Amino acid sequence: MARVLCVLAVGLCVCVLAQVAAETLSRSAVLRAVSDAKKIIDDAYTYSRAETLRRVRTRKDLNPSDLLRLVKQPARETRSAVRAADYLEYTLQLLQDRHHIHKRSLNATDLISAEDLETIARLTGCAARVRQPNCKTTPHLNQYRTTTSVCNNRKFPRRGSSNTPFLRLLPAEYQDGVNLPQGWDPMLQRNGALLPLVRLVSNRILSTANEDVVSDNLYTHLITIFGQWTDHDLTFTPHSPSIRSFNSGTNCDESCLRTEPCFPIRIPPNDTRFGRNSDECIPFFRSAPACGTGNTGHIFGAANVREQLNSLTAFLDVGQVYGADEGLARDLRDLTTDSGLLRVNEGFNDSGRELLPFSPMKDMCASRGRITNDTNAEEVPCFIAGDERVDENIGLSSMHTMMMREHNRLARALAKLNPQWSGETLFQEARKIMGGYFQVITFRDYLRHIIGPDILNGPEIGPFPGYDENVDPSISNVFATAAFRFAHLAIQPFMFRLDENYQDHQKWPSVLFHRNFFTPWRLVFEGGIDPVIRGLVGRQAKLNVQDHMMHDELRERLFEFLGHVALDLAALNMQRGRDHGLPGYNSWRRFCGLSKPRTLEELAVVMNNTELARQLLELYGTVDNIDVWLGGVAEPFVNGGRVGPLFACIIARQFQRLRQGDRLWWENDDVFTEAQRESLQTTSLSRIMCDNTGITEVPENPFEFRPRGAGYTRCEDIPAFDLSPWRANGEDRQGHPGPPGPQGPAGPPGSNGAAARAAFAVRLGYNFPHPGKPIAFKNVIYNGQDLYNTKTGVFTCTQPGVYQFDFHCTLYQNVGNVDLRHNDKLVLHSFTTQQSGYVTATGGTILQLATGDTVYLSANYGGNGLTADSFFSGHILFSV
Ligand SMILES: *[C@@H]1O[C@H](CO)[C@@H](O)[C@H](O)[C@H]1NC(C)=O
Ligand SMILES: *[C@@H]1O[C@H](CO)[C@@H](O)[C@H](O)[C@H]1NC(C)=O
Ligand SMILES: *[C@@H]1O[C@H](CO)[C@@H](O)[C@H](O)[C@H]1NC(C)=O
Ligand SMILES: *[C@@H]1O[C@H](CO)[C@@H](O)[C@H](O)[C@H]1NC(C)=O
Ligand SMILES: *[C@@H]1O[C@H](CO)[C@@H](O)[C@H](O)[C@H]1NC(C)=O
Repeated sequence: MARVLCVLAVGLCVCVLAQVAAETLSRSAVLRAVSDAKKIIDDAYTYSRAETLRRVRTRKDLNPSDLLRLVKQPARETRSAVRAADYLEYTLQLLQDRHHIHKRSLNATDLISAEDLETIARLTGCAARVRQPNCKTTPHLNQYRTTTSVCNNRKFPRRGSSNTPFLRLLPAEYQDGVNLPQGWDPMLQRNGALLPLVRLVSNRILSTANEDVVSDNLYTHLITIFGQWTDHDLTFTPHSPSIRSFNSGTNCDESCLRTEPCFPIRIPPNDTRFGRNSDECIPFFRSAPACGTGNTGHIFGAANVREQLNSLTAFLDVGQVYGADEGLARDLRDLTTDSGLLRVNEGFNDSGRELLPFSPMKDMCASRGRITNDTNAEEVPCFIAGDERVDENIGLSSMHTMMMREHNRLARALAKLNPQWSGETLFQEARKIMGGYFQVITFRDYLRHIIGPDILNGPEIGPFPGYDENVDPSISNVFATAAFRFAHLAIQPFMFRLDENYQDHQKWPSVLFHRNFFTPWRLVFEGGIDPVIRGLVGRQAKLNVQDHMMHDELRERLFEFLGHVALDLAALNMQRGRDHGLPGYNSWRRFCGLSKPRTLEELAVVMNNTELARQLLELYGTVDNIDVWLGGVAEPFVNGGRVGPLFACIIARQFQRLRQGDRLWWENDDVFTEAQRESLQTTSLSRIMCDNTGITEVPENPFEFRPRGAGYTRCEDIPAFDLSPWRANGEDRQGHPGPPGPQGPAGPPGSNGAAARAAFAVRLGYNFPHPGKPIAFKNVIYNGQDLYNTKTGVFTCTQPGVYQFDFHCTLYQNVGNVDLRHNDKLVLHSFTTQQSGYVTATGGTILQLATGDTVYLSANYGGNGLTADSFFSGHILFSV
């Protein structure tokens, strides 16, 4: 009866809905919908997997997007999570279609009884995904992380765990308010303007030829790849595994039709790459929905809009080494012995050092024949590691390899120290140390170069405030989809490979970036990881400048080696933001308490660039609509950082939450002993490189670029990680050892061509600093050129160049900070921690100085006693 009424008039549908609600659907109709939906989804999944594998295997009809999809394929637990969500969504869609209800008006609770909804949730597997786990039965909950980080938070056990939805900091803005991406219907306006095609924006704003790339004078390429490494600890957004539309069976990469899950990227007319073929599309797959969001949200009491899934844990826990999924985590371990080791490659080694094991995925990485044009070349499968994207580039694969080796090195050393420990204890203790390493390195060394000292020091981050179980550590959608993708603009067009002298490798030359995607064979057959690691440390990062944003390796040749339509990373990023319903640029500016530019003049001020502002407005019509990723990467850098104010804010808030909301954060009470924390605090990426490769010399801070000669340190001079606090029952026997003395000041620079020697090293002697005023270090150890004024405490530059400064201060008080200032501007905030009752404030950085520039230290509390042996040193690295 309801159907008959419905055809009378659209306007009547509202009352019809009420009638249906009164009757509710029969139970058999509901069950039939569930079982039909399961079959359709299963068929689409099975077809997609078989078809993609066929293409990869035969390399016929292969698209680069197949590769991207295979990599972004949800696996194991994530696959079940995605599948459950797809079942649920599609069941409801079938019910709508069969009962003639227009999609937008669907409210399942009006239609289906609460009881039936529960049945649907149970049958599809969605109910299991939101059930609260019981943390009482989890072993070692206070000592070790669970693989999925479930129960890190005891009050909200799923917070921060893998396979949970991204957090929304601002409400989603979908085209239909619930589910459809912005731009799905390209003729619908947003804020009074049409959205430009993402490929058009990419062409107009981001395009840079490889040879126009500008290098970063201060930072190495390692800082870029370390960003990717960290991203792969924190975020992974699975796609739907289906390559064809559920409804129509359309193959997403053969058509420009927008039909779930296909959201292809349209090509503007006269595109530089596609020319007249502008009727082609770059394939794009929507991110998978999470169970109980979108149209089904209210079933679970969740927000009634589509959410995306993060298949990784939100914590800095080196999940990319160990896996965030129980099955994968088990697969990565060497369970044939009781030694706590990670599995290594059985067929190949790297000059005797371990390589990652191979994955069952054979064909995807078999690109050697094609790339080297040698059909007889021996191929190898992909590597396997804790994150599925390990093979994406050889820099990343080298990091994975090195960290797997470090785990095994630690496990072996711990076994020597504690022969009574079981393999499980060895494994968990080594894993825990690795987690500590990366929490220290990320906060102490990495973040300050990215978000700059003002923000690192500001209310958004500051020192560790203690654990708070009410802080939600979950990764925000905007962080994963926009802000933390800033480093795409700092990737060089080459993956550099260098020899023992940090010169271009004669035998294994640097490779163009598009020839290093999915090429594990380069590590197996081409000299191993050492040349690649040297290339990351010994060469500069790309500098993101407004007129040279993204080079063609990523915009025109992403995954090119696999087919005819190479992808465009910039276009993908913007399409992804629209897919996820991210609000526009100005909403985020407001969220961060920044100005909201409206006019050309205002935008020109924010961007510090009138021409760029004009182009952006021409494309978007209104500043409000600028895709947040683009707006963020276009902003000029914050002081001392490598992102603009908007992304600095989003990144800072994310890291603050994932630290404060981590019960097992390394500085939190009772996670490590005090002696263990002291050890962890001295950890360095440079020493990890020394311990796990054949490299004998590195810059002590490998993120900071130094030309060869000055600033490289021999491995034997870099302190080894002190494991003695891990000797069981041994650590506190003789009482606390007291704080370590300050390190010796760095020596004067080595000879470096024409660079004049300019250096000083001074001890404090006796002094009570005034807040914010330069601290005068009175005892001169070396001050050959008299550049440091012991009366005022100010260093003045006479020789333009890049300089290195270091300080190490001990404070009597409980709190206190020491800051390094350049021309009165804060550039470095000390790494301040407590050890055995003393507070140490240390830091070091490199700065590019012009003649007349000044540098000094200041402390934030007056009369805040620094000990007399605190020191400060500086020297030139090279002239500019
Ligand atoms: C759907 O129905 C529920 C319960 O009647 C109600 O709370 C909710 O606001 C409705 N949602 C929409 C989008 O109409
Ligand atoms: C494309 O290029 C052709 C030839 O250069 C030109 O005539 C045409 O106007 C262009 N179309 C657009 C949309 O720019
Ligand atoms: C490394 O591989 C080479 C060549 O296959 C082999 O001779 C050597 O024994 C291996 N070394 C180790 C430590 O496994
Ligand atoms: C690959 O090798 C074939 C046969 O040796 C040759 O004809 C072809 O030009 C080569 N292609 C490239 C790109 O070097
Ligand atoms: C703004 O641009 C000018 C000229 O390009 C440049 O000199 C200045 O340093 C820029 N300011 C900032 C804050 O980036």
